[in-house]
Parts: sequence; C-alpha cells; structure tokens
Amino acid sequence: MRHTRTRARAVKAGILAAVVAAMVALVGFASRPASADLLNDRQKWLREAQAGLFLHWGMRTSPTFGSCTTWENAVNNTSQTGGRWEASKWVNAAKQLHTKYIVLAVFHSRLGYARAWPSKIPGSCATKRDFLRELLNAAHAADLKVINYMTDDPSHHNENGPEYLNSAAYSAFKGRTIDITTRDGFGEFSYDNFIELLDKYPDLDGFWIDNDNAVWERRGLYAHIHSLRPHMLLSNNNEDTPEMDTVSHEQKTGMTPSYDMPQAIWTPAPRLTEPDYKLPTSGNWWFSGGDSSVDRKLTIGRFLANAGSSMKSLMAETAMVNGDFPSQQRSFNSFFNSWVSPIWSALDKTQGGGYMYGGLKGGSFGNGAYGFTTVKQVDGDLLKVDPSEQYIHVVDPPTNGTVRVRDNGYVVSSVTNLRTGAAVNFSQGSGFLTLTGLSGFDPFDTVFRVTTTGRVGIYPVGSVTATASASRSGFPASNLVDGSYLRYWDNNNSVPVTITLDLGSVKKVAYLAINQREWSPTHNRTTFGRAEDSARIRNYTLQTSNDGSSFTTVRTADMPSTRGVSFIDFAANTRFIRLRVNSTWASSDVPNFFHKLGIDEMFVGSDFARGGIIQPPPPNRFEAENATVSAGSTIDSNHLGFSGTGFVNTPNAAGAFVEWTGVNATAGTRTLTFRFSNGSTAARPCDLVVNGGTPMSVNFGTTANWDTWSTVSVSVPLNATNNTIRLTATTAGGAANLDWLEVS
Ligand code: GCU
Ligand code: CA
Repeated sequence: MRHTRTRARAVKAGILAAVVAAMVALVGFASRPASADLLNDRQKWLREAQAGLFLHWGMRTSPTFGSCTTWENAVNNTSQTGGRWEASKWVNAAKQLHTKYIVLAVFHSRLGYARAWPSKIPGSCATKRDFLRELLNAAHAADLKVINYMTDDPSHHNENGPEYLNSAAYSAFKGRTIDITTRDGFGEFSYDNFIELLDKYPDLDGFWIDNDNAVWERRGLYAHIHSLRPHMLLSNNNEDTPEMDTVSHEQKTGMTPSYDMPQAIWTPAPRLTEPDYKLPTSGNWWFSGGDSSVDRKLTIGRFLANAGSSMKSLMAETAMVNGDFPSQQRSFNSFFNSWVSPIWSALDKTQGGGYMYGGLKGGSFGNGAYGFTTVKQVDGDLLKVDPSEQYIHVVDPPTNGTVRVRDNGYVVSSVTNLRTGAAVNFSQGSGFLTLTGLSGFDPFDTVFRVTTTGRVGIYPVGSVTATASASRSGFPASNLVDGSYLRYWDNNNSVPVTITLDLGSVKKVAYLAINQREWSPTHNRTTFGRAEDSARIRNYTLQTSNDGSSFTTVRTADMPSTRGVSFIDFAANTRFIRLRVNSTWASSDVPNFFHKLGIDEMFVGSDFARGGIIQPPPPNRFEAENATVSAGSTIDSNHLGFSGTGFVNTPNAAGAFVEWTGVNATAGTRTLTFRFSNGSTAARPCDLVVNGGTPMSVNFGTTANWDTWSTVSVSVPLNATNNTIRLTATTAGGAANLDWLEVS
C-alpha cells in the first residue's frame, strides 16, 4: 500500500467516473462501452461478499531477506514452529473472518518485488515453488477467490540496502537496455508480468492494482485483461478509474465514531468500494515483527459500518514468513468466527440500508445509540433488495433501552433479537421505528431482525415532476424524480439553487426525502484545518405553494451532513414543494466539493408508515381498486387509512361507476357494506344494482375530510357465486372515494 495518491486527482477521477456512470445509465446496459464497468456480472461474487483478506507478504516480511533463495528456503523450512508455508493457513484465516476473497500482495514495492510464482521473466525474485497456484487451488476448493496485487512503483527498489530489481537480467531477456528502476522501465517489466499471469493462471480471479503506470495505460492493459479474461475483476487503490470494477479506499481515521470509515469515502454506489484497514493496531501493512493487538471494537465496528454502507471490508493481516499469523491476530480470527457466525444471516448477501437500494436508515439511533442497517439482496440482481428482511445493527447501545430508527416508509410487521430469537416491543409513527424495553446489549453488535410488508405513503415515480433553477447539462432536474440513482441532478456549481417539485394537484404531504449523491466525505477533516469537506446541503429554506407562484416559507434550517437519505418532516396540503439550498457544507477552500451539489433522487411522503402486525384482509372483503371502474376514474393512495393498495376516485359526474364482479357469497339475503370517504360538502348518492336488478339508492354522506372513512350497509338478495354489484353516481359530484365492499 502506498499513500501517495493526491486527493485532488482521486476526486477528479471520481467525478469522471460519475459522469461515465451517468452516461452508462443513459445509453443502457446493452450498448454500454466495454471500458465502463459500473455494473458487470463479474462483480456478482464481490457484491454478495462482505469482506476480503488482504495479505502483504514477501521478502521483507520480518526478519527481512536480501536474497530470493534465502527467503524461499525460510518459507519452506519445515522445522520452524507451525511448519512451513501452506495455503491452508490463509484459507482457514479467510474463512474465520467470513471473507470471500484473498488479495495477495507479494509483488509489492515495499516487500521486495517478489513474484510468488515461477516466472520466465527475469528482473526480480520469482519463487521456485508455485505459491500462487497452491493458493488458487486451495482457495477455489473452499469457494474463495484470489486477487493478485500488482505494483506500479519501482521507487523502493533498493530500500534498506539490497537491490531488488535486476535491470541487466531483464534487458538481456528483452534484447535491449531497459532500466526497470524507472517508472517506464518498470511499467514494461510489470506489464510482462500481467501478461504472464493472464496466460499461466487463467483461473485467477482478478488484479488489485496499486495506482497506475503510464505504460499500462498506453498499452491498454485493462481493456486487454477484460477481453482476454472477462471474469477477472480489477480493483484500484484510491483511483476511481472507469475501467476498474472496484475502487479501494485506504484506511481512514478521525471519524466520530471512529469505526465509521464510510464517512470519509467519496466514491458513490453502485460503484464497488472497498475500504481497506489493518487489523493489528501497530506495525506495517506487512509483518515487521512483534505481536500487535487487534482492537476488537474498532475492527468489528468498521466491518459493520462498511456492511451498512454496501462497502467491502478489505481486512489486512500480517502473515509471518511461514504463513502463520502472530498470536493476537490468530485469536482475533477465532473470536470473530464464533462471534459473527450466529448473526451472519444479518450480513451475508446484504446491502446497506437507507441508501438508494432502500431500507431502514442507519447512523444515530437516539439516546447515544449508533449503528447501521442491512437489507437482504435479491438473488441474482446486482442492485435490488428484499424489504421483507432487514436488520438493525446497534453497535453503540443506547443509554436507556430505547432505539429509534428512521423507517424510510417501511411498514414493520415484526422485530426480533437475532441472537436470542426473542420478540421485541416496537411502535411506529412520525417516520420512526422505536424499539423499547431493550437490555442485554452485545458489546459489538446487537442485531434486530425486522420484517416489513414494504413501503407505503410515498408518491409514486411519475406522479411528481421536478424543475431546478440551475442544472448541469446532462444532469437535468427530471433525474431527481425518475426513481433511479444511476441518474442524478447536478447544480452546475450554482448556490443558492432551488428545486421545485410539483405533485400535480394539492395533496397531503408528511415529509420530503432527499438522497444526495454519496460522492463526498461527511466527516470533519480537522487534519486539514478545514471545517468540513462535504458537498451536501447545509442551510435550506423549504416552501410550499398551491399555484406555483406565491410560496409560503415552512422553515429555514440546517441539514446535517450524513450519508444516506435525509428527511424534512412537515405537514402540509400543497401542490408545489420548493427546496432552496442556501449553502452547502464544504467551504470555499475545498474547491473539489465547494458548491458542487449532486442529488440522486427526491421523494415525497404523504403519510408516515404505521407499524404493528398487518392483519390480512378478511375473505369477504372486495377491494374497490380491483373492481371495474368507469372512464376517468383513478386508483389513488393520497389519503390516509385505506385498505389494500388504494381506493377508487371516480370523476365528479353523474354516471360514474364502480362494478364488482365474480362476488361469491352464501345465497340469500345478505348485507353489503361499502367503505367510503367524502370530504366534500355534499352527499354523493349512488344507485346500487345487484345482478342487473332494480336500482336502489344508497346515500354516501359527508365525512370530516378525505382521510376519514365511513361505512354504509344495505341488505340485498345474493346468489352463491358470481354476483355483479354496481354503484353508479346519480349526482354531479360523482361517487365518494370508495375503499371496499364487504359481504356478510
Ligand atoms: C379531492 C380528493 C379526491 C376526491 C375528489 C372529489 O380531489 O382529494 O380524493 O375524489 O376531491 O371531489 O371527488
Ligand atoms: Ca373523485
């Protein structure tokens, strides 16, 4: 690992990738250019994984070796404690850590540039024993992937004395003079090694590439890898290069809480990101002697924080010469295995919740509690989640046994403690799921399994339109409400900027939700002496209007800079909602983020979800939304308290009707009950016709408002099967809003 990548360059690359991502989305997958790998089937295993094991190991593993042969002899020495190197040592550690891949960093600038395979290319150490082949075979037998690390950098060629690179040998092999201690010469040497690996190890699962080398770029290395070995995954350290499947982000510190590394990451999903971090508290990325402790709280917290943000934990351990791990790492591995196994279902094949995939929102859970949420992935789909299976991970417990989680519109039907199986008391309202009476917290993660019946109270895509006072070309305001986070709106550096949403008519509103683009960090980068880097919204003014020209201010406030969806709760009946962004968090001395606002998606909630067990509808209920309706009627869901998926809103005209067919009952005189709402000022009578018989007038009186429901019942003769029941409006008001018909 190096740390030379400049932030400005990485961020610029991030913007480039974002632009490419947006272009990809616009042209669609079928015609997607081969170079842009935002989404690709070869990523499936990594998207389903939570973690990898990062192993730096080589000639400079303590006690450090100047000679390739001496090092390999030491690796193979059977008389040392634990015996010689065997691939099983690493496969076992990877399994204990519940990782799905091993990144093998031997051809590394700080580790002596050794190749862990017998190479035909002279120029640096190459082993006689084929460690890479042995590792590939053992890993694949255990359903693990192996990614080989490649360095771009010759600058450490004689670090601490010995010369690790042999330009003379490589020149003789190539038939011309090449100095492989220069970037270009090394680019050629390493390029040849890529080609050798592609040829000799066709089952290798990919490359982890430390930064970039101009020779590789000139020769189109990445496109070559993709065309020759389409299954191979490419990861890059720090740089968001479009051809790469994965962007790695080196270990981040300075967050609050300290384990929340995603706060420092600037690569937006669905790009694959892989924060990497060292498990041993002290020492190098490789074993440099000693037996460093592993901070359990920090390490497990990072694992969970990454999982809760759909990021992959690349966990670095420091294998010794014979492949064994120092004892404190060994004991962490076995502890982690026993700790995580009982809750693994809450992490396996999940995405982080509260992002554009959906799900409850992680972060602060109130009363000092902090944690993350995960949602099960849908099999075989790179982006979809299954809202019925969600998890709350309480990493820092609350002071009082109560946890409050933003429900993001999901209707919760049950909550259990995953470790104990015990049912948990909960309630839902005002946008929050509240768990109460909690005790017996796990020191690292108390996991609650949450089942939901899906999302309610959100105006559907297509029913809201958006305009903005400024938009970068190609990133229009319509991207805000298109239901896709592959397309986003960009403010074109304009602040203040206003976004206006139009609901089409005056409707009930409970909140505005905003998924800002996850392309900038959210933590305070005090190390740079700056208050904040985030490109996110800071001060805003929220306004409403029924006519689109005269607006009333609801509030002016600051929005916290956090990852995931943000909510502005306010109760209103309005057609237009205007968000005026007065300022963003990044200050002007952070030009990469200053006034650069991106928003993936905005949505409007009509109502908050209400929790509790959802009763299945009684079998004698026939929802109006399933009936036949007259022209111009709509199935609406904009008023509270309906059953099923909505209610019927007929046009305001005599003759409008709703007709239920195929209604089965017990033959004889039965009671028909209609559930309706009528917030107008006049009754809305209808003619009731049963099986084509004589019309009978039924009065649908007024209700307090359109959110209040009432019922009216009549007795009619019914057949045993296939009854047709029709209500036809007899006045100019049309029918009341109709929710259902019940037969008893
Ligand atoms: C309002 C109300 C509708 C209702 C309509 C009506 O627009 O929101 O749900 O159907 O009035 O008068 O019929
Ligand atoms: Ca109506």
